[in-house]
Amino acid sequence: MNWRKTRRTRRGVTSSVLTGPKTRPAVEVPALPGRRVLITGATGFIGSYVADRLVRGGSQVRLVVRRPDRAEALRAAGAEVLLGDLTDPPTLQGCCGGIEIVIHCGAWLGTPYKREVAYAVNVTGTTALAEEALRAGVQRFVHVSSVAVYGPVPSGVVTETSPPWKGVHLYGDSKIEGEDALAAISSRGLPTVITRPGIVYGPRSRGATIQVVRLINRGWPAMVEGGYGYSRPIFVENLVDALVLCAVKPVTREAFTLIDTNMRWRDYLQYYGRMVGKSPLSVPYPVAWLLAVADETRAFLTRRQPRIWRRALGYAMSQAVYSTEHARRILGWTPRYTMDQAMEITKTWLIENGYLTVRRDARSSA
Ligand SMILES: NC(=O)c1ccc[n+]([C@@H]2O[C@H](COP(=O)([O-])OP(=O)(O)OC[C@H]3O[C@@H](n4cnc5c(N)ncnc54)[C@H](OP(=O)(O)O)[C@@H]3O)[C@@H](O)[C@H]2O)c1
Repeated sequence: MNWRKTRRTRRGVTSSVLTGPKTRPAVEVPALPGRRVLITGATGFIGSYVADRLVRGGSQVRLVVRRPDRAEALRAAGAEVLLGDLTDPPTLQGCCGGIEIVIHCGAWLGTPYKREVAYAVNVTGTTALAEEALRAGVQRFVHVSSVAVYGPVPSGVVTETSPPWKGVHLYGDSKIEGEDALAAISSRGLPTVITRPGIVYGPRSRGATIQVVRLINRGWPAMVEGGYGYSRPIFVENLVDALVLCAVKPVTREAFTLIDTNMRWRDYLQYYGRMVGKSPLSVPYPVAWLLAVADETRAFLTRRQPRIWRRALGYAMSQAVYSTEHARRILGWTPRYTMDQAMEITKTWLIENGYLTVRRDARSSA
């Protein structure tokens, strides 16, 4: 890929920053046979993919979970399952004994919608796990943070050195503080890598896949102002590739933004629209703003996370492009699956699991 030869777009952003290289160098993502790896969050979406991959590749996998019944399939496949709750540091004591690599996917993502729980999991829990890793002499601590730390940047290019944006939402704030806490432990000798994925989609994703299909199928608004702002999706298997590379490459104390592409919301949502057989609906910004007020009120009364809120509407409108050049250059990572391939895999899974019905007239329902 020659960055200098890329076409300049109307907005002065190179097309390579938007879409990544056109040629796809084969990324050698190693299996880690025999390596002793501890994974948190393996009963959730991303952690389960990481655990699947490593167990299949012959790693000695240890899971720290708070609900062991949800990890039965992984236990049956050979993983060791330890009971541990990130909000209760004593339950983590000794969990990193004999471990070489920690991949920390466990996190609070909005439920229950309480500040104290968000911080107990994403800050105190991350700190306690990292302290355990430091004590045990772990060689690499891969932390899954989020692009949410950058906030809804309206325009320009976002890189790993872009400043964190506090005060947009509880999730982003807790992720920023989790990163800060980890940096302090890293400076005391724990080799850490911070990853910041965009919207992670694929089979088993509730938020980025199943719920989006439902939304479009029910004819509810899925985007704002024609979906002109940028989404930053990443297919879950492409993310797992990057996490594995972070575990083995000499990249300690680095942070990586991880997205497959910068893509307008309307183009991303059209993938699901085509599966469902309906065009995703858009609402004008003032209507989205009023819906956000209503949803924030409902969320306040029910103590649930709002689905849309005014300050986060900036994400739908953002024209900023997120650069993954650092991951490409330092990690050698490129998305292994194209969007077309990844969406085909996702569609097949949705059909097989009853979230999408392919009708004779080629229309679908979810
Ligand atoms: N999904 C995305 O689009 C996305 C985007 C950017 C970054 N991320 C980050 O990626 C990571 C994984 O996200 P995900 O989408 O896989 O979320 P998820 O499906 O909700 O999984 C979260 C995991 O964390 C575990 N967990 C929560 N609280 C815990 C506690 N107190 N003690 C122990 N484990 C606890 C959950 O266990 P239970 O099964 O017991 O609830 C679950 O296994 C998170 O750090 C998230 O912030 C996700």
